[in-house]
Amino acid sequence: MRIFPSAFMVGLSLLFCGACAGPPPEYRTTATVKDIMDSVVDPNADYLFESVSTTVTAKGIIEKAPKTDDDWKEMRRHAVALMEATNLLQIPGRLVAQPGERSENPRIELSPEVIKTLIDSDRASWIQHAHTLHDATTGMMKAIAARNAEQVAAAGDVIDKACEGCHKQYWYPEQRK
Ligand code: HEC
Repeated sequence: MRIFPSAFMVGLSLLFCGACAGPPPEYRTTATVKDIMDSVVDPNADYLFESVSTTVTAKGIIEKAPKTDDDWKEMRRHAVALMEATNLLQIPGRLVAQPGERSENPRIELSPEVIKTLIDSDRASWIQHAHTLHDATTGMMKAIAARNAEQVAAAGDVIDKACEGCHKQYWYPEQRK
């Protein structure tokens, strides 16, 4: 007779404790992948991409590069933000876009739902793309620490390839063909 109540209790706890399988999630994934791209990844990458440039004009060649301590310090801030955004992309449970948000170019872009399915079906591949961007950004951090504009431009190209690699797999795979 002793077994019955305890088995009954186990049954009860199974019934009413669906969430007891593990602790509640620690992360609050209010922002979507799209939000992170638009608010964190893109503006910080753009800052880095545009920091070193050579423009040929009628008046001659204009070289743009960080010069002062503050210029380099500001670059580092943007590199840190970009680098850490790669961790934000890996937080589990994040939506690709808010429900109802559509692709801007549905003919070449996958829908957010399809992108989410692709991510969930092979999470290791998604993580690998995030790591590739992380590691590309550490190259930028080194170039900034060395205060070397040429190295910054080269690191920018590596970052750009990391963006493209992920986009070609998840965002507009049709363009790959
Ligand atoms: C780990 C994969 C991944 C990496 C790395 C990545 N992106 Fe994205 N990005 C996506 C996905 C998926 C979308 C499509 C989400 C959407 O907009 O619906 C996207 C969309 C975007 C968008 C459109 C945002 C919008 O408002 O629709 C921009 C801009 C963008 N990425 C810029 C970048 C840049 C710049 C980099 C590199 C510095 C980068 N991304 C690296 C996965 C990635």
